[in-house]
Amino acid sequence: MENLIQLVNKIQRACTALGDHGEESAMPTLWDALPSIAVVGGQTILDAAGNYEQMRIDVTIVVSSGKSSVLESVVGKDFLPRGSGIVTRRPLVLQLHKIDEGREYAEFMHLPRKKFTDFAAVRQEIADETDRETGRNKGISSVPIHLSIYSPHVVNLTLVDLPGLTKVAVEGQPDSIVQDIENMVRSFIEKPNCIILAISPANQDLATSDAIKISREVDPKGERTFGVLTKIDLMDKGTDATEVSEHSLDTLNKEFGLILEGKAYKLNFPWIGVVNRSQADINKQVDMIAARKRENEYFANTPEYRHLASRMGSVHLGKVLSKHLETVIKSRIPGLQSLINKTIIELETELNRIGKPIAADTGGKLYTIMEICRTFDQIFKDHLDGIRSGGEKI
Ligand code: GDP
Ligand code: NA
Ligand code: MG
Repeated sequence: MENLIQLVNKIQRACTALGDHGEESAMPTLWDALPSIAVVGGQTILDAAGNYEQMRIDVTIVVSSGKSSVLESVVGKDFLPRGSGIVTRRPLVLQLHKIDEGREYAEFMHLPRKKFTDFAAVRQEIADETDRETGRNKGISSVPIHLSIYSPHVVNLTLVDLPGLTKVAVEGQPDSIVQDIENMVRSFIEKPNCIILAISPANQDLATSDAIKISREVDPKGERTFGVLTKIDLMDKGTDATEVSEHSLDTLNKEFGLILEGKAYKLNFPWIGVVNRSQADINKQVDMIAARKRENEYFANTPEYRHLASRMGSVHLGKVLSKHLETVIKSRIPGLQSLINKTIIELETELNRIGKPIAADTGGKLYTIMEICRTFDQIFKDHLDGIRSGGEKI
């Protein structure tokens, strides 16, 4: 039987096919009711002296928090566009589907029937599809790209990658881009059903973390925010010349130790530290499986983190998120069920209005989403029956 996350994935895709992707929509916004996980992080602009937030004319270095790296580590695949500046310019809705066996492949919703087995081609398609919507002028758009990855090595999970928060425009982008990105990020994470994955680099002071700032704003008690610290490995080697920090390494080390132990910057869930591939690793094409292995070794062998090793790293992060997402979905079943019943009724009305036979594309799509809603409804009922009869069904 399909699990709850896979079913929610299906409804999300059906909603998108109908043009309901969390933006304004005439239909009851099912998407909003479905839990998903949004990845939020900032990019800090440093001048050559390592000072934060300089005027754009002085901008020399963009230090990213490592959002794409975290996503790739969780997936265990190398498939996201990279580069300095604002690379992610449209939301990327990434659905991970665990398959029992067989070759890994990816599919875009805008290219149905095309199976990608070459993940470099996936990366290229994300970049191309971004440009198709935004033009080549590096603008942003809130219309998501939908990508599904099928693999034996993933956990069932839906993640939304968002453009990095920034304080200054770069590369000839309009100044308004700063506010536009913030608004886009906020529109996703302010929804009560959104689980926030707040990414901050460990080689910078958390007080300057955009991810923490914006997630506190929409989730002050940290009830749906998971804090992730990247670049833990840069802590003991010292920051390299491109990642200068005003803060002494000692202070940072102490602070991050406390955070990971749950003694500072407390959230409802424990912070998770990760070690992604460095730029040098990427250039050397260190593969993700090797990187995961090295990450585990890093935590197991570093004295400061050894006692925390079992709850650090990207594999652990993926598992925690998947489990949490399922828990949230379960807790929302009654609400989702009534919303879905309402949707079924509205869809039936709409289908009657269109009239039969359903030749139009819209009719077909409405029909599909109705079928999915009915399946979902049935699964919910089975699940509740299972709970009533004392057994755990899903
Ligand atoms: P994004 O802009 O937030 O998506 O950041 P990226 O994931 O593209 O990462 C920016 C840069 O930081 C890349 O050169 C990564 O290799 C590097 N990076 C990210 N995470 C880590 C980490 O945990 N350790 C090290 N050493 N480098 C990292
Ligand atoms: Na970033
Ligand atoms: Mg990125």
